[in-house]
Amino acid sequence: MDLVLNLAPRVVIRNDHLKAYPYDHYDGGVKRAASVVIPAIAIDRTSARPLFRQIYEGYREAIVDRRLRPGQRLPSTRGLAAELEISRVPVLNAFDQLLAEGYLESRVGAGTYVAGSLPGEPSAAGERPVARGPAPRPGRRVVSRAPAVLLRAAPEPWFQGWGAFRVAEPDVDHFPFPVWSSLVARHCRARGSLLHYGDPAGYGPFRESVAAYLRTARAVRCEAAQIMAVSGSQQALEISARVLLDPRSPVWIEEPGYRGARDVLTIVGARLVPVPVDDQGLDVAAGIARCPRARVAYVTPSHQYPLGVTMTASRRLRLLEWAQNNGSWIIEDDYDSEYRYGSLPIASLQGLDRDSRVIYVGTFSKVLFPALRLGYIVIPTDLVRRFMVVREAMDIFPPTLNQAVLADFIAEGHFARHIRRMRQVYGERRGALAKAIADDLGTRLQVLGSPAGMHLTAALSKGPRDRRIAVRAARQGLWVMPLSTCYLGRGARQGLVLGYGGTSAAAMPAAVRRLRAVVTSG
Ligand SMILES: Cc1ncc(COP(=O)(O)O)c(C=O)c1O
Repeated sequence: MDLVLNLAPRVVIRNDHLKAYPYDHYDGGVKRAASVVIPAIAIDRTSARPLFRQIYEGYREAIVDRRLRPGQRLPSTRGLAAELEISRVPVLNAFDQLLAEGYLESRVGAGTYVAGSLPGEPSAAGERPVARGPAPRPGRRVVSRAPAVLLRAAPEPWFQGWGAFRVAEPDVDHFPFPVWSSLVARHCRARGSLLHYGDPAGYGPFRESVAAYLRTARAVRCEAAQIMAVSGSQQALEISARVLLDPRSPVWIEEPGYRGARDVLTIVGARLVPVPVDDQGLDVAAGIARCPRARVAYVTPSHQYPLGVTMTASRRLRLLEWAQNNGSWIIEDDYDSEYRYGSLPIASLQGLDRDSRVIYVGTFSKVLFPALRLGYIVIPTDLVRRFMVVREAMDIFPPTLNQAVLADFIAEGHFARHIRRMRQVYGERRGALAKAIADDLGTRLQVLGSPAGMHLTAALSKGPRDRRIAVRAARQGLWVMPLSTCYLGRGARQGLVLGYGGTSAAAMPAAVRRLRAVVTSG
């Protein structure tokens, strides 16, 4: 019997099927089959089409379109009828029909599932799309040009794995997870405001903690009102670029430099102007000669990425003077300055700025762990409102829980303790790497830059080119990055960027011996 309920016309759209993946998913030994989500189908009670037909067609279409996947569990007919607020009869009829036609299969005592093999399909379990209707007519599919520029780069074998020499791999064994998880539990118990929409700039106590830390440890001149929480430096760069740049605005970038910055500036449509880096940092005079009226200069003055140079005081002052005279902005990416071995951390460039020209960007990816996806921007006071509106338009506000946890982690002293411990651990690893290079590869590799951070860059003196070495190394499970890939223009220097965060000091000599075999094998 078809039931068309005499209710106000309405379309019932139930939960999004895309959230329905935990079918029969095991998590920590707890089976979550009970969490079957009702797939989205539209039911129109005012339609002349019987309810049974609407349900049958809704499910069939979802299966054929592969929104529902082979093997995916469906809700019970009783549960679905209750969810749709209709009698169970049309649901039973629709499911019977789908079972009869082979779209569904029922397993005794275990419920109803999308069939493993669809009608007319030899193997629906494969990833082949199900042909439906006429083939699409060939036509132009016009999209933005910006991503195509990024796609042109060949796949990079040195980013395909984790292990010895992989850049940006931190040591996670020393992270105080028991402390972290107790703070997570504390905030989950408290709930309350953590579940609501928040401030586009982030969670108040987090911004206070970060401002206090930056004033003390990094000589940054800031108040909490200038701090914006972001999902790492990458988002900080994107928001900054959207506030500061128009399409084709010229931007100085370091040559060689950080690819993440280059990529995000590319997709926002900036015109990149590579400015050489020498042993004093960014060559400001060369930048002025190439593009005196750049809107922004992107720099890593504490520990230049990738060369490891520290920008000298005179270059810093020259850069600030240029920005002030020209009405330009400086983005200071201070990504790993907490880790400096053999001398105190270098004070920020932002702290020298008397004209509010510097947008200071920092991250917890290095000092804690990258999956946290948490960083911050220190915004010049007169730009705060602009950053706020752009941020709100992008993702409204940052997730609150991790900010709350980290605010306590900092306030209760765990953060400072962790930095102290890791400075020692990474310092030993860097020392072990530099020594092993001197012992085993001293004739081929010359270590550049100051002892800081979690990577070391070494220039290649002769022999095969850096890309060739990196490709061969990746085959051996050694993840060295070719220095030449950090250049945008011609004249790239040959060398290797070697991460040491993820390899113990004891394991370093053996890893370098394996690298020597690759470097010296012709
Ligand atoms: C120069 C530079 N900036 C920033 C980052 C960190 O980026 P994020 O905070 O987005 O993880 C890295 C990571 O390798 C880096 O090398």
